[in-house]
Amino acid sequence: MTGTIEKANVFKQIMGQYPTGVTIVTTMDEVGKPAGLTVNSFASVSIDPLIVLWSIDKKVSSLDKFVKAEKFAVHTLSTEQEAACWAFAGKEADRFSKVDWKVSENGLPIIADSLGTFECKTIQQIDAGDHIILLGEVIDLNKAEKNPLLYYNRNIGPIPVNWPKK
Ligand SMILES: Cc1cc2nc3c(=O)[nH]c(=O)nc-3n(C[C@H](O)[C@H](O)[C@H](O)COP(=O)(O)O)c2cc1C
Repeated sequence: MTGTIEKANVFKQIMGQYPTGVTIVTTMDEVGKPAGLTVNSFASVSIDPLIVLWSIDKKVSSLDKFVKAEKFAVHTLSTEQEAACWAFAGKEADRFSKVDWKVSENGLPIIADSLGTFECKTIQQIDAGDHIILLGEVIDLNKAEKNPLLYYNRNIGPIPVNWPKK
């Protein structure tokens, strides 16, 4: 395989066949307005200290807000949040009017009904091609007893019923 476009297409196909969870990452801008987007590039990095990462496309309209903000919140989504997942992927003009949310003690917009929430202090930003990688140290976290929402082949859904039990 030689062509750059061909390689990029196969790259996208392989990533489309790589199942992930799905998250919404939020932050608060300088005038106290929430910003957020659907993200599946989220990953765990370190346990001691607790560090996570995600990457943001440089074309995203809220890029500057995330780059300037000192903190961000990652919400791992539950099966109750399918509509929120699409709303925060560019389908709605006013994303936050589609979800229940409140401002946390850390000043971050927190979305209700999430599976897990990590509130993070940005510790590093890495320029990486057409994306910026944001690394955050977890300063607060919350967990709910819910089922995870998965992303695969450009669609979202619950864990298959025949998924093996431990
Ligand atoms: C399942 C899923 C995962 C996504 N993951 C990312 C991601 O990791 N990083 C990113 O920048 N955009 C990701 N996006 C796209 C953004 O959600 C989308 O470009 C963004 O909401 C556009 O915001 P804007 O209209 O304000 O520019 C993902 C979209 C979906 C549906």
